[in-house]
Amino acid sequence: MQHRILSEISEKDFDLFRSLVKRKLGISIRQGKRKMLGLKLSRRLQDLDLSSYFDYYRYLLKPEGARELRHLINIVTIDQTGFFRGEKQFEILRERFLPEIVRRKIEKKRIRIWSSGCSTGQEPYSLVMLVYEMDNVDISWDIKILATDANTYSLKIAYLGKYRGDQVAGVPPAYLAKYFRKESKGGEEVFRIKESLKERLIFRRLNLLVSINQLKGPIDLILCRNVMIYFDSATKKKIIDQFYRLLEPKGYLCLGLSESLLGIDDRFALIESAIYRKKTPGSNFGQ
Ligand SMILES: C[S@@+](CC[C@H](N)C(=O)[O-])C[C@H]1O[C@@H](n2cnc3c(N)ncnc32)[C@H](O)[C@@H]1O
Repeated sequence: MQHRILSEISEKDFDLFRSLVKRKLGISIRQGKRKMLGLKLSRRLQDLDLSSYFDYYRYLLKPEGARELRHLINIVTIDQTGFFRGEKQFEILRERFLPEIVRRKIEKKRIRIWSSGCSTGQEPYSLVMLVYEMDNVDISWDIKILATDANTYSLKIAYLGKYRGDQVAGVPPAYLAKYFRKESKGGEEVFRIKESLKERLIFRRLNLLVSINQLKGPIDLILCRNVMIYFDSATKKKIIDQFYRLLEPKGYLCLGLSESLLGIDDRFALIESAIYRKKTPGSNFGQ
């Protein structure tokens, strides 16, 4: 398709989109991103044969524009991720918290983990590999990893579970051999997650601002890493409150390494490296 060149997005239209994205997704787009957003939106406008940013904005507000909102979300979200990203946290999970969860669940043999903001899937797949490697855990265990994101494009990639060689660079070689199938496509190597891992994951579109209250717990471990960085405190508070509701007593919440619950919620005790434990009522020490 021949793309027309659209004029730059005006400050006024940019502000309209910024507040729409903030309302619908929680993300605050920085002022300096005007040109970049305009460029990304212009491609979508042309696909829809609309001639102005304001027409697109109005379309998004109409009832028939509700589905189009997914495209806007796909455009504005940042999908940066990687296998075992934030290595230190995975190390701590493997050494301390996952073994503890396994000990607690030794009778029930049931583990529930939620990767909220899973992007293209590397985070939940990394987790399920770690769980499989735990002593005492075998395939008879009822292990489910809920993997959700607001970006439907990222979710499709996550569901496919197919990655290029450079994308699996962070995977330990032993895991790569055990949990991936190497294929060759057009002279290029691709690594496909094995079904035995994939079947433990449930992928779902979920906007943390919209449908989090429909989820049911209890969950042993929630990851919400590098998702809320552009959210304001009020939005964070609401989401963290839901995490609190969903977590098991003494359940774990893992944020991105640069994130914190300071001033947001004091019902969690910081253990290490942005990993929090839900405090039990009446305890001040996170026990
Ligand atoms: C930078 S990625 C982080 C991925 C992964 N958690 C990690 O740390 O590697 C942020 C993800 O959060 C998702 N996201 C942003 N706002 C969201 C919202 N309101 N609800 C659900 N997901 C959201 C984005 O679509 C994106 O995939």
